[in-house]
Amino acid sequence: MNSRTVINNSLLLCVTVLYLCAIADSVYKPKTVFQKITTNKSFSILSSLVQNSSLARRAILYWNTTVFAPKNEVFEKFNGYFGSDLVYYHITNEEKSLTKIFESSYLHTLADTFPPLWVSKIDGNIYINNAKIIMEESNYFSRPPGGYYNFNQALHVIDEVLEPPSIYLNNPTALELITNFTKDQLVPTTQYLNRIDDLKLSKLFNKNGGDTFFVPVDRGFDVYRYRMSDKYIIEGHIVPNQVLFTKPTIRNFYFETRADGDYILILVSFVERNGKLYIRSNTVMGDSNHQKGEMLSRVIKANVPVKNGVVHFIEKPLGIFDMQLKPFPYLPVIDKVSGDPDLNITYELGKISGFNKHLQNTHSFLTFFVPRDKAWKNFTVFLEKIGKDHAKLLGKHLVLSDVRYTMEKLWYRTFDQLITLNTVSGPIDVRITKDNNGVYGILYGHRLIKVFRPDYICTNGIIHVIDEPFISSGDEKLSGKVKMEFWKSLGDFLF
Ligand SMILES: *[C@@H]1O[C@H](CO)[C@@H](O)[C@H](O)[C@H]1NC(C)=O
Ligand SMILES: *[C@@H]1O[C@H](CO)[C@@H](O)[C@H](O)[C@H]1NC(C)=O
Ligand SMILES: *[C@@H]1O[C@H](CO)[C@@H](O)[C@H](O)[C@H]1NC(C)=O
Ligand SMILES: *[C@@H]1O[C@H](CO)[C@@H](O)[C@H](O)[C@H]1NC(C)=O
Ligand SMILES: *[C@@H]1O[C@H](CO)[C@@H](O)[C@H](O)[C@H]1NC(C)=O
Ligand SMILES: *[C@@H]1O[C@H](CO)[C@@H](O)[C@H](O)[C@H]1NC(C)=O
Repeated sequence: MNSRTVINNSLLLCVTVLYLCAIADSVYKPKTVFQKITTNKSFSILSSLVQNSSLARRAILYWNTTVFAPKNEVFEKFNGYFGSDLVYYHITNEEKSLTKIFESSYLHTLADTFPPLWVSKIDGNIYINNAKIIMEESNYFSRPPGGYYNFNQALHVIDEVLEPPSIYLNNPTALELITNFTKDQLVPTTQYLNRIDDLKLSKLFNKNGGDTFFVPVDRGFDVYRYRMSDKYIIEGHIVPNQVLFTKPTIRNFYFETRADGDYILILVSFVERNGKLYIRSNTVMGDSNHQKGEMLSRVIKANVPVKNGVVHFIEKPLGIFDMQLKPFPYLPVIDKVSGDPDLNITYELGKISGFNKHLQNTHSFLTFFVPRDKAWKNFTVFLEKIGKDHAKLLGKHLVLSDVRYTMEKLWYRTFDQLITLNTVSGPIDVRITKDNNGVYGILYGHRLIKVFRPDYICTNGIIHVIDEPFISSGDEKLSGKVKMEFWKSLGDFLF
């Protein structure tokens, strides 16, 4: 091959490339978002919705937009509301790349009367309400064909139609939705609504933000369940500050609910059994009216978006067990201590020293760690030695607060941290432990004190019977260094 042919060949190649580029330019000129939708058979249903709506058409022809596009097969599976404004819920008036969506928690759409679209992210996927964005077919950008210069558009393909909550309501809150659904055929909500009203908890369902609401339907209530649905139970139906649609929510993972009061803690998780979705509640801390344990409630209608989050309708209320418990006879702390033969020494010491007047306090809740009689056995010499200081010693066992502290709550909230209890005799440092058998201990000084009987609830407080008093070697100098409000120190260990 001589040099001449080389030049000829390169020339030929060069011409061919230029020619192909010219063809490519005319044939493969990138389609606009409007063309993408209207010329691709996969989107003919969406296209027809767009063509029929002058607002949607104008948005996609002239403005900044993002279109969430379900394919025909997705529309064919959909049997919800199919009004002309459905298409508005699939179009926003800003151009949003996947990255920008990823950074948002919600998006506004052309449908002013529908809630925002809530964004979730899990395992690198992005969900819009309950619809998953199909990444490989998304992030398509163009300029509007209307010729406006600084306008940009994005197209993302999704695997579910975005369904609005109700055509009768204008961007409803959870409360407005429940109020309007009292006569709904599938998910009537009269009982739950009445209970919310009785307990004056409406504002929980009306406040701004993004929460998850579980709403038990009427047939899930009988007289017993209705009566047992108190403030804690209702609060146990709300996951605050998280909008959990069913597809993007990880299964068997516990979320904290609003039922996080002085001695009740209810968690919920999404679980699947035999292909059906259930909400599992776990009453981690309970009392005689709120039995500890797990229960399941089946999801009847999921994923209704609202202005302040998402609503899921469930078959029966969470946190209430079918077994009816005998009501527990609550006593005042003083009566419990004086009446229990096993607590006689503590009672007598308190009576003689004048300490017992604290037990009659009715302005705060008492959390009283009571050494049982056996607990004092090894300390008789010590007791004689400290003489008049018995009241001070007993005071180290008593916390006054606006809540009762169950052992579970103390343990759960503090894990293995050192906490300062602000007792009536000043601050003491302890560590709360729980062993594999669920037995609580209190590490005081160098001794791990077993909690013999936790959580005896009284009208004005709670009693924990312990196996040794809070006395450590060389004691009776109360440290007084870390002066912290008891509840505040607990707050430091919140999640
Ligand atoms: C669009 O309008 C035409 C004519 O009114 C109608 O036949 C068609 O069903 C409409 N398409 C949709 C998706 O609503
Ligand atoms: C139509 O859209 C689908 C989904 O994005 C895509 O996979 C397909 O290649 C498109 N078809 C044509 C002819 O552009
Ligand atoms: C459209 O989006 C561009 C950025 O992509 C922005 O600069 C422009 O201001 C937007 N126009 C309107 C009317 O929002
Ligand atoms: C609630 O829904 C019904 C339809 O079931 C509707 O007729 C009514 O106007 C709605 N109520 C409100 C307050 O929007
Ligand atoms: C309680 O202790 C006091 C004083 O030691 C004693 O007199 C009384 O009998 C004891 N009561 C009981 C029920 O053990
Ligand atoms: C009392 O002290 C003895 C010896 O130190 C110890 O073995 C025992 O466990 C202690 N009893 C209690 C109730 O603390």
